[in-house]
Amino acid sequence: MYQKMKGTYDVLPTESGKWHALEKAIRNVSKLYNYKEIRTPIIEYTELFHRSVGESTDIVSKETYDFIDRGKRSNTLRPEGTAGVVRSYIENKLYADKLPVQKVYYVGPMFRYERPQKGRYRQFMQFGAEAFGSSSPQLDAEIIAYAVSVLKALKIKDVTVRLNSLGDHDSKAAYKDALMVHLKPSITELCHDCQTRYETNPLRILDCKIDNNHPVLVEAPKPMDYLTEEDANHFDAVCDYLDAMNIDYVIDKNLVRGLDYYTHTVFEVEAHLETLGAQNVICGGGRYDHLVKSLGGPEVPGVGFAFGLERLLFALESIQFKGDPQYLHLFLMILGEEQKADGMAMLNRCRLGGLFADIDFMDRGMKGKWKQVEHHNARFVAIYGANEKANNKINIKDQQSGEEVTISKHQLYNHIVAELMKPSHACTSCEADSCDDCEE
Ligand code: HAM
Repeated sequence: MYQKMKGTYDVLPTESGKWHALEKAIRNVSKLYNYKEIRTPIIEYTELFHRSVGESTDIVSKETYDFIDRGKRSNTLRPEGTAGVVRSYIENKLYADKLPVQKVYYVGPMFRYERPQKGRYRQFMQFGAEAFGSSSPQLDAEIIAYAVSVLKALKIKDVTVRLNSLGDHDSKAAYKDALMVHLKPSITELCHDCQTRYETNPLRILDCKIDNNHPVLVEAPKPMDYLTEEDANHFDAVCDYLDAMNIDYVIDKNLVRGLDYYTHTVFEVEAHLETLGAQNVICGGGRYDHLVKSLGGPEVPGVGFAFGLERLLFALESIQFKGDPQYLHLFLMILGEEQKADGMAMLNRCRLGGLFADIDFMDRGMKGKWKQVEHHNARFVAIYGANEKANNKINIKDQQSGEEVTISKHQLYNHIVAELMKPSHACTSCEADSCDDCEE
């Protein structure tokens, strides 16, 4: 028997309703913030990720799925969405569009060769958003507000937004110098990778998974303390806008993020819910003012975020999120071989008219058919046998009210639609059809 690859999972038909509901909420909130969907390929040339995410990041140096194709080019399954979106933004010259600020979102699979555990997969789904064209702190605040609104729409409450600033070139250079001076005397105490990172990209030492609790890292200087006045002002303005929108956050001076492209604002959203386990960072993002330029485009700033959708679904488990309800409007019971052609025609007419409808394809007895009705959560059950055919009639039962009627078989579709249009509950308090207790 073949098995799925380690770190991957199947979404079974019983679970897909949750994914649909999650994606629907995401798309609705995206409309509110005026972000439009962009779809980019899952594979890109390897170099794109080296240039953007960074050679010395764990993501690129240890976690990418790379392969050489038959044309001898090196390709990579995208480990994140920002690089591909930036590539597309440049390649399609979106910077020359009539709209000066381009706002896009994406939902799709990403691939990282990580050690799998709950909430951490090798193929996982991200919902991400990117906004290009403005360096205004308003846009940093908008992107954070957008992420928070997604959580509000999903009714996930117990979250913390952690916020920090890395500043731009000058701030980052001053910080890098201070960090190197601090680390130098103890660098040999750190792991082999960190010793290499000291030479290539010292900031990456701060997100080392082996040494993250080492005293020399805990006591390391913080980027926030090396911001130029201009960069500090940018960060203060982001905080002011968030305050104005009543968005809670905490400033986390240790937050640096694991990708190289960030400048200024970086943030993560952490959820405090038991169902999440150790992987409780559900969203990460930040500003990247030089990424477009470094990938060959013009000097256009950008800012964005990405959510891990599996982690969001785990968070939703704790609030008993049901997902899209799964049901049928009609289950048609066709009794007898001679009734099958007629039955198929009726079934297809109902479907073409917009009803969710199905039949038993296994010629089960009545007991077996009723089991399927229950399983599919069908509202109406219509029975079409030899008698019905002879009389041009059909028997139909409303599973909700228990009412049974015999109607002309040509009225099947109209009857169901008319019944579905009726207001379903007389009482909005207890949801019973008629109710004496709640005076509604
Ligand atoms: P990231 O922090 O690498 O950022 O990933 C964003 C989110 O994806 C994480 O917070 C987490 O929820 C989820 N995630 C990451 N790796 C895994 C995994 N192996 N399994 C399950 N979930 C995972 C980025 O990817 C940036 N591109 C975000 C961004 C967009 N920054 C600016 N624009």
